[in-house]
Amino acid sequence: MIQTTPMVKQYLEIKSQNKDSIIFFRLGDFYEMFYEDAELASRELELTLTGRGQGDNRMPMCGIPHHAAESYIARLVSKGYKVAICEQVEDPALAKGLVKREIVKIYTPGTTIESSMLSQKTNNYLLAVSYEKNRFGVSYIDASTGEFKITEIDDPQTLFDEINRINPSEILFSDMWQENVPEYFALRISRFKDNYDVQAASDKLKNHFKVVSLASFGIETFTVGLSSAVYILNYLEETQKTALKHVNKIVPYRINQYMFIDSQTRKNLELVQTARDKSFKGSLLWVLDHCSTNMGSRLLRNWLLMPLMDVDELNSRYDAVEELKNDTILRAELVEKLKRVFDIERLTSKVASSSANAKDLIALKESLNEIPGIKMLTKKFTSLLLSQISLISDLPEVKEIINSSITENPPFQIKDGGLIKDGYNAELDELRKITRGGKSWIAELENTERLKTGIKSLKVGFNRIFGYYIEVTTANLPQVPQDYIRKQTLTNCERYITPELKEKETLVLNADEKTKELECNLFCGIRSKIAEFTAAMQATSHFLAMLDVLISLAESAAFGKYCRPKVLPKGDNLDCCLWVSGSRHPVVEKSIGEHNFVANNVEMNSESRFLLITGPNMAGKSTFMKQTALIFIMAQMGSFIPAEKGELPIVDRIFTRIGAMDDIFSGQSTFMLEMTETANILNNATEKSFIVLDEIGRGTSTFDGMSIAAAVAEYIHNNIKAKTMFATHYHEITQLADKHPGMKNLNVAVKESGDHITFLHKIVDGPADRSYGIQVARLAGLPNEVVSRAKEIYATLEMVENDLGEKSSKLKEVSALKKIRRSKNTQEDTGQVSLF
Ligand SMILES: Nc1ncnc2c1ncn2[C@@H]1O[C@H](COP(=O)(O)OP(=O)(O)OP(=O)(O)O)[C@@H](O)[C@H]1O
Ligand SMILES: [Mg+2]
Repeated sequence: MIQTTPMVKQYLEIKSQNKDSIIFFRLGDFYEMFYEDAELASRELELTLTGRGQGDNRMPMCGIPHHAAESYIARLVSKGYKVAICEQVEDPALAKGLVKREIVKIYTPGTTIESSMLSQKTNNYLLAVSYEKNRFGVSYIDASTGEFKITEIDDPQTLFDEINRINPSEILFSDMWQENVPEYFALRISRFKDNYDVQAASDKLKNHFKVVSLASFGIETFTVGLSSAVYILNYLEETQKTALKHVNKIVPYRINQYMFIDSQTRKNLELVQTARDKSFKGSLLWVLDHCSTNMGSRLLRNWLLMPLMDVDELNSRYDAVEELKNDTILRAELVEKLKRVFDIERLTSKVASSSANAKDLIALKESLNEIPGIKMLTKKFTSLLLSQISLISDLPEVKEIINSSITENPPFQIKDGGLIKDGYNAELDELRKITRGGKSWIAELENTERLKTGIKSLKVGFNRIFGYYIEVTTANLPQVPQDYIRKQTLTNCERYITPELKEKETLVLNADEKTKELECNLFCGIRSKIAEFTAAMQATSHFLAMLDVLISLAESAAFGKYCRPKVLPKGDNLDCCLWVSGSRHPVVEKSIGEHNFVANNVEMNSESRFLLITGPNMAGKSTFMKQTALIFIMAQMGSFIPAEKGELPIVDRIFTRIGAMDDIFSGQSTFMLEMTETANILNNATEKSFIVLDEIGRGTSTFDGMSIAAAVAEYIHNNIKAKTMFATHYHEITQLADKHPGMKNLNVAVKESGDHITFLHKIVDGPADRSYGIQVARLAGLPNEVVSRAKEIYATLEMVENDLGEKSSKLKEVSALKKIRRSKNTQEDTGQVSLF
């Protein structure tokens, strides 16, 4: 082993207590990493790996200057690592022997609150899962905003779907759950030791929130959930090492309080990012987000991912959007004000966790200054949500504290001075007087010495090593007075000091030092005073974010010519009724232009709750189905919908099985994946769900595929009774509508002239008569030779098919497919092979 110096011993001890973190070990002006941490960090950060010692004793190390640390930490944390900052916690000048060092903070992906490490428009969640007797407790927090939620879940599938929706950056998982956490959570997962004890958990939470009973939050009946909340708090304490004042409430929720959107559907419908390149542009959120503040953007995203199920709540959102939509001028004035509001939500958390700087306080003050104006503008609104805005506080106490103390343009660093206004603190004013006095004496010195000595080129300067000096060029050396003391000789000049100059210098530098220290202390005091208003600031930020979201929805409604949906109250006979006229796909419409998009009507009722949609490739089947799903989601998040008029039932879940997007990472074949997803839909959809099935059964042989598709369609129609849109290229399937009362055929019209087809994108009643696949292939630029050969083969196949149809008892019933397949197979062996 290595010859251990005391410092290495100190390092190894600290490392042994923080094995899963990369240790940033403070040495003078650097943070150094050693051994495996150094190897890892040099790889991840492209730093030069150096080392101390030789052979077996060699200790790999690498380092970064302490002032540049934040960007390196951010890079490591974004890659999922934990970084522990180990500082010197005593003054090296006063230390006896080795300087004491301690971990002062641990940065982890799920706990960061530094703005430079966070994405401004999304939340950053830390999530914990506890487990006991087949029940999961789930809590999650955004430490940068203080949002803290808790729920309990009964089965693993729902748990994983919920985790997926929350999309945390870091997960703490109970070690009581023995099974693996699915690997698709490619992020930091730590196991924690779960000592399940409801009483202890409850005590800890009561203690943290300073409440007598958990009933204050409505979580008194929770059991396993409480442990997950406690693990979150423990973890935050362990890593932040500071008070968690902004974590002052916990909000319970039920999974079925919101429309359930599984992760596949979120991807397929491109709600927050596109499926292909994961970009924001092209997603539904891209169309809807006109927020002026980052807190608004975050809330809008949450509304989108958690659509509501309650008609009254939705109507209040529509009421507000409607009022705002109708008043363009007022809306523009509000936007102008909101654009000057900073992220009060995150600023509050920074204040409460003592990490705000003086610039943050100024940003807070400037934001609060906008509130009276905003309240004035919203006064005339009568809707419930907007009238709440007039009740928010602009926190005059906070403004006053900041106004009286913090300079208008302070530096970033709180240790650099220049933060506190003159007149705020007598001691500070006194120190500043001394500094200013000393500095002006020194500034005057150049003049007086020039006059005294007659050296016109005499200069007074300052450098960090010698402090203040008087500089005289070589030519003038004979005139230098006796009392000058030589300090430094340069090529063309000599530098001197005088006792008086040094005296003033000490005074100035001491006072400067003291000023900075005092300013820093005063600032921390001011920040703590403001932290007492945390809850009120959070409430204010919440209402402003809500206003911002409502305005944003009104803007999209106005730009996009959206209409207010009518959501139908619960009632069994209405659950399958849907009626939307002039419906459009919000994203495609925005991309190709309003005038190029063909609007369509959608109607579903007890005779058409299952729509079978056929039509040529490229006709617009998938677009039509997706837009209907998006309309449900938009309606249930409180948005207006891209249509002329619409009445919709509340849906509890949306499922989509769309296209064969190969997922090479899941290790499943395309077909296997398709069937797994279909199984999930069949097992979880209810009568109140909306299902989109786009060409299922495509990934296998025609007859297997067709049989599966038909059976799935029948099962949904007969057993689940969910509203369903089912697109298929298997024309035989259209016959299912004859036998099933809730099924109806639709197709997408095309105009055919000779070999050419024009897409009309218009949905019409009835099944499509043929599929035009070959024409579309030609449009795509397949070589002419291939296209004509395909036509020949098609003609031959058609003959075989007709022949077969006559021989067997007609292809009317899909239930007969199996039989036909057998006979077809024998044909294939003999007849079909010879075709090619
Ligand atoms: N209503 C519409 N108005 C204008 N353009 C549309 C409309 N619907 C679809 N399109 C355009 O047609 C393209 C193809 O649509 P879509 O993918 O929905 O076709 P499809 O019928 O599902 O085809 P396939 O059978 O090959 O899957 C879309 O990308 C869009 O640009
Ligand atoms: Mg399609």
